[in-house]
Parts: sequence; structure tokens; C-alpha cells
Amino acid sequence: MKFSSILLATALTTADAFAPQHHNSALHLRSASVAPSLRTSSLHAMPICILVEAEVKEDRMEEFLGMIEKNAIGSRAEPGCIRFDVLQAEDSPNKFYFYEIYENSDAIAHHKEQPHYSAWVAFKESGGTISSVSKKANGTFLT
Ligand SMILES: *[C@@H]1O[C@H](CO)[C@@H](O)[C@H](O)[C@H]1NC(C)=O
Repeated sequence: MKFSSILLATALTTADAFAPQHHNSALHLRSASVAPSLRTSSLHAMPICILVEAEVKEDRMEEFLGMIEKNAIGSRAEPGCIRFDVLQAEDSPNKFYFYEIYENSDAIAHHKEQPHYSAWVAFKESGGTISSVSKKANGTFLT
């Protein structure tokens, strides 16, 4: 519960930061540009969201930032990846949230076969994180 409230608050803050004056029209434009794939897939299956909360070890931060940037860029280039955002907690510099959206479970399976995903797994397995929790969620209202 707490985690999703934080994410929602962060997402709203981010949206505000990008569109402080024309909030509604900017969101409308954005959803218009994303909507075709969302609308099409909602006829068959809803997109699947993945929320990750990870705490990174202090001495692995630089390595983490390089790895996760490649992961985000690589993931966004996947055909079934709709969104891959990496957020840093406001009050805790070593805590990160990943907000990912995929068109369906095949898109997630494809994502998990990619080298940029393996780099994240290897980072965790080598002890780079203090904790990492991943949750799946259905989109109730998505932009
Ligand atoms: C979320 O979506 C999946 C796939 O459509 C469905 O099986 C599951 O029941 C949904 N979860 C909830 C809480 O509605």
C-alpha cells in the first residue's frame, strides 16, 4: 500500500514537473500518442505493470547507475515495453523504484531474455542490492 502511494505521488509530481501550466491538455496529448497501442491491447489483454523497489549498496551506486541506465534504454527499445522509468526516493538516495509497463506477458518474457535484464540479475546476485522487491499490477487507469 505504502509503496504504491509513493509511486503514485511520484508519478503525479513528475507529470506536474513536465506540464505545470497545461496539465490536462498535456496529459491528454500524451495519452493520445500512447493510446493506440493501449487501446488495441485492452481489447485482448490489459498491459501488465511491474513495480520494483530496490535498495542499492552504497559502494555499488556508480555501477548501479550505469547498469540501470542501459537497462532502461534497452528496455524502452523492446517492441512490447510501453514504459520503463527509474525513480530515486526523495529522502533516501540509495532507494530506487522502477516503474515498467509491458503490453502482455509475452513482452515480459521477451524482456527477461535481454542482456540488459541479465545485467540487473547479475548485479543483484553479486550482492549489489540490500533488498529488491518486485510486484506485478494491472493498470486500473493508465495514461
Ligand atoms: C489482473 O489481470 C490478470 C490478467 O488479465 C487477471 O488474471 C487477474 O485476475 C487481474 N487481477 C485482478 C486483481 O483483477
